[in-house]
Amino acid sequence: MIRGVDIVFGLCWGDEGKGKISAALSNNYDFVCRWNGGPNAGHTVYLNNKQYKTHLIPSGIFYNKKSIIGPNCVLNIKKFFEEVEYLKKEGFDTKLIKVSPKTNIITDKHIEYDLNFLQKKLGTTGQGIAPAYADKALRVGTLAKDCLDKDYIWDGELYGEILCEGAQSFWLDINYGDYPYVTSSETLPYGACSLGFSPKYIREIIGVAKIYDTKSGVDPLFPETLWEDELLNKIIEVGQEFGSTTGRKRIVNWLRLDKLAEAIKKSGVNKLIINKCDILESVNKFTVLFDNPTSKIEFINLDEMKRYIKTYIYDNTFGECDDITFSGDKAKI
Ligand code: IMP
Repeated sequence: MIRGVDIVFGLCWGDEGKGKISAALSNNYDFVCRWNGGPNAGHTVYLNNKQYKTHLIPSGIFYNKKSIIGPNCVLNIKKFFEEVEYLKKEGFDTKLIKVSPKTNIITDKHIEYDLNFLQKKLGTTGQGIAPAYADKALRVGTLAKDCLDKDYIWDGELYGEILCEGAQSFWLDINYGDYPYVTSSETLPYGACSLGFSPKYIREIIGVAKIYDTKSGVDPLFPETLWEDELLNKIIEVGQEFGSTTGRKRIVNWLRLDKLAEAIKKSGVNKLIINKCDILESVNKFTVLFDNPTSKIEFINLDEMKRYIKTYIYDNTFGECDDITFSGDKAKI
């Protein structure tokens, strides 16, 4: 029997530090599950002062938990086994990793199409994500049950305490994001139900953001002129804003607070974590942006900015999200 489901997911354009949060929580659960995306994601986890990077396998694996890749993920078999081998070498119990029989497989053709036709136009990660989801929708895809050894196939049912770990984020969602500058899956918490539980079991929805915004790949909301801003470039360096899947520099802008509040409201977040506060302190500039009316507020220090964010979020989400944590340490939350 399922006791409860908690969900960790990103509220911005990805790369908010979701992996760190879900890894820190994993110990309290029977299962840690991924419900969307594929090797386009990159999660960085710190354990006993050591850094680990994964792209597909949920972070429950670092805490000896059953780690499930759901039917709405897409799987690159070669990359999957590379990651399994990496984790095995690092001493983790990879028998806990299971893939849904209905997970669609990314083929070389999907990757070729992505690299030839999508990457330049949309700034995709070039991992074959959109073509794999397109074949899934066309119902001509190949399924995990037909190509993975049965030891890796999930044939059980979820029970007990479940943590769902989002990939990509709110503004990359295929339905809510700024189409076509989105990914091809459902990144919002509603998508987690594809793992096989009813929405009535969802308890906490933990949204993760950063205190400034970043985007990997093309997006009109992040114009090219941002590359010319000296301070924003400094944030790229100090905040190490380089894609963990592609190695690309992420474009940085100040926090769009109205977008953050909208994402919180539409996804039902009741706990919010805002990461990387230390980075703003090191550039000593504290700014939020709004679109409507287009405006900007500057604060004299981080505490003032935090106070403003708390009040704004509370006022603009009907008071539903009143639990806000600001984090400024990459290894701790
Ligand atoms: P795709 O998912 O590779 O098709 O890429 C579509 C868009 O989503 C591109 O702008 C990517 O840079 C972005 N994207 C996909 N996955 C991630 C991620 O894990 N973090 C940040 N951006 C991502």
